[in-house]
Amino acid sequence: MRFISGFRWILAAMATLLMADSSKAQSSFTRLGNAGTESFDEGWLFKRYGLQSDGSRLEEPQQAEATTFNDQDWQRLSLPHDWAITGPFRIDLAGETGKLPWKGIGWYRKHFKIPATDAGKKIFVDFDGAMAYAEIWLNGHYVGTWPYGYTSFRMDLTPYILLGKENILAVKLNTEKWDSRWYPGAGIYRHVWLVKTGPVHVDHWGTYITTPEVTPQTAVVKMAVTVSNETGKSVKALLQTDIYEAGAGNTLKKKVATVQNKNIELAGAGSKMNVAVTIPNPRIWSIETPSRYVAVTTVLVNGRKTDTYYSTFGIRTIEFTARNGFLLNGKRVAIQGVCNHHDLGALGAAMNTSALRRQLVLLKEMGANAIRTSHNPPAPELLALADEMGFLVWDEAFDAWKHGKKKNDYNKLYDDWHEKDLVALVHRDRNHPSVVIWSIGNEVMDQRDVAMTKELAGIMRREDPTRPVSNGYNDPDGGRSSGAVQGLDLMGVNYFFEQQAKWDADPRYANMPTMGSETSSCVSSRGEYFFGTNRRNCQISSYDLDHPGWGCTPDEQFRTNAKFPHLLGEFVWTGFDYLGEPTPYGSDETNLLNFRNDPSKRAELEKALEELQRNKPPSRSSYFGIIDLAGFPKDRFYLYQSHWRPNHPMAHILPHWNWQERIDSLVPVYVYTSGDEAELFLNGKSLGRKKKQAGKDFRLVWDQVRYKPGALKVVVYKNGKYWATDAVQTTGDAVKLSLSNHVKKITGNDLAFITVRVEDADNHMVPRSHPKIRFRIEGPGEIVATDNGDATSFESFQSTEKSAYNGMVLVIVKAKKGAKGSIRIKAEADGLTAGQASVLID
Ligand code: GAL
Repeated sequence: MRFISGFRWILAAMATLLMADSSKAQSSFTRLGNAGTESFDEGWLFKRYGLQSDGSRLEEPQQAEATTFNDQDWQRLSLPHDWAITGPFRIDLAGETGKLPWKGIGWYRKHFKIPATDAGKKIFVDFDGAMAYAEIWLNGHYVGTWPYGYTSFRMDLTPYILLGKENILAVKLNTEKWDSRWYPGAGIYRHVWLVKTGPVHVDHWGTYITTPEVTPQTAVVKMAVTVSNETGKSVKALLQTDIYEAGAGNTLKKKVATVQNKNIELAGAGSKMNVAVTIPNPRIWSIETPSRYVAVTTVLVNGRKTDTYYSTFGIRTIEFTARNGFLLNGKRVAIQGVCNHHDLGALGAAMNTSALRRQLVLLKEMGANAIRTSHNPPAPELLALADEMGFLVWDEAFDAWKHGKKKNDYNKLYDDWHEKDLVALVHRDRNHPSVVIWSIGNEVMDQRDVAMTKELAGIMRREDPTRPVSNGYNDPDGGRSSGAVQGLDLMGVNYFFEQQAKWDADPRYANMPTMGSETSSCVSSRGEYFFGTNRRNCQISSYDLDHPGWGCTPDEQFRTNAKFPHLLGEFVWTGFDYLGEPTPYGSDETNLLNFRNDPSKRAELEKALEELQRNKPPSRSSYFGIIDLAGFPKDRFYLYQSHWRPNHPMAHILPHWNWQERIDSLVPVYVYTSGDEAELFLNGKSLGRKKKQAGKDFRLVWDQVRYKPGALKVVVYKNGKYWATDAVQTTGDAVKLSLSNHVKKITGNDLAFITVRVEDADNHMVPRSHPKIRFRIEGPGEIVATDNGDATSFESFQSTEKSAYNGMVLVIVKAKKGAKGSIRIKAEADGLTAGQASVLID
């Protein structure tokens, strides 16, 4: 099945190709979309009503949207804002949503002026996401609503805007009406933008770019532009699109083409224009060379510019096959993906681009090449970064359809909103080269429903026929036997691969590209190692052997993948730990849905959940992450790296080597390596060589090592030649704190992430140390959050003190608004030499 062609295109009346014109009209832009876009994040007022963080209630006032409403005592803040991440964590709240008090009613108000010189313009406000049930008023007039908290949406303010005078925008959010299986966050947690255009303008997400023909010599770029004429009369317009090579961020480099539609008659809303242009020697978008282009579309009426619109895109082909996996630009690429939820750990759901970039840098380092936006539309910045850094994206809409998993999840919205939410997702995201798969759902209750599957997939294909439509099944056999899966282009199997061979032979599915849309679900706590058990004190041993009943170890999954080499690849659950769903210490009953076809496993889990409900463990974040909540890699990071980057010489030993209480007792030693053979040495003495059996072993295991303090070293070989080495040693006592930050310079809203290690006199991290660390800042900066990756910690994320968890802590800092200079971060703990780091503000 090929997904590289689609629409029937009407070629533009005139297409002119201007080669290598390096003139730069404007070298950068604020954001994709209409050029008259400015950030609307500053200067908001906020008040929480309904459920308060301590469980009490504060009744909503009458008409908090009115212009006369007194908001003087409201909290002043900037967006993005998550009102629940300040907690406090409460043991009585559900672990599945992070033990944070996220339910409530949030009101936001913003006073702002629009200059009289904007007379005649259209004024819109764009919300990238607001959790949840957003209702919007301007100057006391109701403007509109968008209930699904993950969808980006636009509101037209023009009818009620006052020029040259104060305007009041009021937004009400209500998370009391929403239920979730993970921490959803609360508030206007993504960016907000004010958009001004002329009355003849490119529509919201009004461009659609495809690249139906791509060779190394030439690429055909097709573009459909939807233009609205809101002048009330018919006008003649000229539309010009200049195509530039894109630089880092939102910058324009060399102009490579110009294409025009002239004298178009625009009668009203939604006129669609199609153009096509050929680009010679195109720079092809790929994972290794993620080259992007920017199309700059200008609308001119009577020679006057009424709007400019920026669209980034990439030139690439994608092809999904049933027998030969996924092809990017004709070359097979195994999908080495991770699922991630949207929260950013200690920052909660509040979007920050530098925090997301840090996540993606770590995932790249591990060898991941794909991200599944489980289980909802992502922040637009995720896709911009994925385009720029070279990731493939499985872009997902829903965790529930008509029949919910929770009382108040998407089932309450399905009838009225599913089409609008799907269209919004596709229109916003369809120009991104990183987006390669649309997903209409995850383990939805209606996954066997043929009609619903066909309808939803049909909406996606109607809006974008160039990508396959998929759905993640935890009942893949039920979905296939009912025929629902026939309504899809690509089959997503979550965990249950037992019947795969049977379905590969079934004529209905033999030609259907298939992949592991969710795999493994291995659980662990960074730096914890237990002997004879996997679980203790609400932590999980980092020997990477534990998983819920529906999951498996990474190794087992690699073996399954190898059994079905024609499949596309996998999305591991999960890349990063996230707030909520602390399986196996969470009591969320929706877990039972994974055993709908296995009554005995279901009964076993039911008992375990009852017990958890009684015992109320403190766990408030997940153990699934390959990387912990603070962004520190767990051991598993290296297991995936060894498999996903086979040519990268690496070795990683576990556990640490501080086991005073186990002298002469057994301490199993594992080595994760991209080599194929290794020799282990304890204090210089060989403990023997081990060799991997190709396709069978993914870790080297010495399980008969008797612990003696000292140095444990591994020397790894590949094809008989030296390949890599790693060592751990028994450390001395903790004597100092050592701080490091990869990013030394920040600008604007960037955050700096500083890692603190508790070290001995020889600079070795002391693995089982938990001192309380106090942070101070000198210079024009602020501490935003601290975290240690401990899933059971109830210490506030905003606290400037934090206990180290197994030798490490993270502190996140930002510059004060508009400041320049240098920030120094100092870390102190009783009995230890203080450490410091500095960050330059650019
Ligand atoms: C899956 C589900 C995910 C997560 C995961 C944990 O069944 O789709 O959202 O709950 O299980 O293993």
